[in-house]
Amino acid sequence: MSLMRIIGGSFVSFVENFSHRRLRSCTSLGRSNYHPECEQLINKQINLELGAAYFYCSLQHYYDRDDVGLPGFSTFFKHEAREELTHAQKLMQFQRERGGDLKLQDINAPLHRDWSHCESIAESLKVEKTITESLEKIAETADLNKDYYTNDFIISRFLPSQYKDIKFLASLLARIQMAEGNVGVLLIDQELARRKIIDK
Ligand SMILES: [Fe+2]
Repeated sequence: MSLMRIIGGSFVSFVENFSHRRLRSCTSLGRSNYHPECEQLINKQINLELGAAYFYCSLQHYYDRDDVGLPGFSTFFKHEAREELTHAQKLMQFQRERGGDLKLQDINAPLHRDWSHCESIAESLKVEKTITESLEKIAETADLNKDYYTNDFIISRFLPSQYKDIKFLASLLARIQMAEGNVGVLLIDQELARRKIIDK
């Protein structure tokens, strides 16, 4: 091997190492057993949770409009929005604790400005199912890569309340389908206003 080739090779690897370090300049020195795929999925999850908060916030204000006038629904969605925001914050904190790189992305605007009651609850159910599938994917990926802390964090701190929310929204949708267009919606509104809020 010629001297020029050795020098050339060293130079190329120096440039590659330098660029690599620049690209990974955000990587924490304290990072331990945190799989890059989990890190990426956590960033995606933060975006989903913030998107859900944005969506619920839009419904909170839709039901508070003077031409809609359902304060129970408005309060219900206000608490849902706050819960999603709390989830996003927990995941952001987790990303930092694990030495991950927090990458925030654009949040999509809600589909509509006006909703039927069935549409708003059906869309909420869809949002919660999407969030749950995404959480399950993180837990599965963490398990496959022996990232036990991420796996436990998602399973113990997020999934139980997701399944409860899905059940609640599914039964709420069934009742709203019965009540849509008549006075029964007012009874559901009162029920939602009285609903006990448990911080999850
Ligand atoms: Fe959530």
